[in-house]
Amino acid sequence: MEPYRIKVVEPIPQLTRQQREEALKRVHYNLFDLRAEEVTIDLLTDSGTGALSAAQLAAGMAGDESYSGSRSFYRFHEAVTELTGYAHILPAHQGRAAERILFNTLLEPGRIVLANTHFDTTRANVELSGAEARDLPCAEARNLDSAEHFKGNIDLDALSRTLDGPDGSRVAMVVMTITNNGGGGQPVSMDNLKRTSALCRRHGVPFFLDAARFAENAWLVTRHEPEYRDRTPRQVAEEAFRLADGCMMSAKKDAIVHIGGFIGLNDPELAQRCELLLIATEGFATYGGLAGRDLDMMAQGLTEVTEPAYLAERADVAAHLAHRVRSAGVDIIEPPGMHALYLNAGRLLPHIPAHHFPGHALACQLYLEGGIRSAELGSLYLGEEDEDGNPTKSAPYELVRLALPRRVYTRSHYDHVGETLAEIAKRADSVYGFRIVEQSPILRHFRATLEPVPVHG
Ligand code: F0G
Repeated sequence: MEPYRIKVVEPIPQLTRQQREEALKRVHYNLFDLRAEEVTIDLLTDSGTGALSAAQLAAGMAGDESYSGSRSFYRFHEAVTELTGYAHILPAHQGRAAERILFNTLLEPGRIVLANTHFDTTRANVELSGAEARDLPCAEARNLDSAEHFKGNIDLDALSRTLDGPDGSRVAMVVMTITNNGGGGQPVSMDNLKRTSALCRRHGVPFFLDAARFAENAWLVTRHEPEYRDRTPRQVAEEAFRLADGCMMSAKKDAIVHIGGFIGLNDPELAQRCELLLIATEGFATYGGLAGRDLDMMAQGLTEVTEPAYLAERADVAAHLAHRVRSAGVDIIEPPGMHALYLNAGRLLPHIPAHHFPGHALACQLYLEGGIRSAELGSLYLGEEDEDGNPTKSAPYELVRLALPRRVYTRSHYDHVGETLAEIAKRADSVYGFRIVEQSPILRHFRATLEPVPVHG
């Protein structure tokens, strides 16, 4: 059961099917353009959408809004230092701000960043600095159906070959995303972190964690890595941070705050250069674009997120929804992670070709049938066409992500999601695809307008 009770509630919108149909037409079938008040269950993201605890709100009320040297900064600083062990901690307003500052300081054209899988903003910030972002996911990650436990790992052979090979001298850093959001929310084992850390040390290459979901990764390590069975998630997390030279953190996930992030570093010279860019572009080094109350709520959230009862329930809820989804006849990336389920829309809707976006088709049905908002991760997101609109590249898989906000929805909300999917799956062959009407040159899934393509025969 949930290890908390509910003290403050917010009504959720309940629309008729006709109202949803009209809303979807009005936004030209782009779910990002819906008003949140038109959505009943919002599973678009687990980022910044969590519920604060009473202790976090109280900490926020005690926030010190001094421009520099606030009490809030020192509380935040102590909490992050104890957790991570890094010598230098810089607050930033969210994960991508931390990425931009670190990469602009460390990277330049011609350099390469290696990762288990870069998250999209991480990749964008690497590329904006002129460097190349290269993913080296482990081989097990390619089999969506296999239930192996650490499919978020980096491919150690490929990493070693790259560091030893002709590109080795161009590698500026290695990033491990824990858990691996771009790779189905799968965790990384401590063994894989240790071996990566050792390889990086041997080659003198800095090793960083993208630690947005560090606590969920630590929980899955205590469940599935025998050596860590008797350790607490907090102990695992502390050890993981200490295997790396630094981290970037989006606190909107595993610090359970609405806004926040930070950079942790050991290298004093790098820290000094990052700090100057932080002051120029985010805010003074003791607030980094955040209010004092945000820093206090982050410090409190970082202590709550590794509590075993909280993490156990979060894993249970994900498993509960996974069970409902599978019973509905819909496949997911196995095994279910903790922050999201990734539905295999390509397999559910084989009659819709990639260039008519099966993932988007399923996401639209989830909204129409149940008022549920999700995110397409398929060819609308990753595909490309030539100037005449002919498809030139499709995504490797047509997926839909159901992200699970922290402490927000209960099992009965997720049962509604399962029931809605079951209804859609029963008449999957009548689900129709889409074509793009207009799109932007980059990041098209955010701004594209679409129209339905009727099912033939
Ligand atoms: N790294 C990872 C692994 C992420 O999942 C995200 C954001 C970021 C970095 C960027 O952090 O949003 O605070 O700037 N992921 C969100 C998501 C947006 O929906 O998965 P941010």
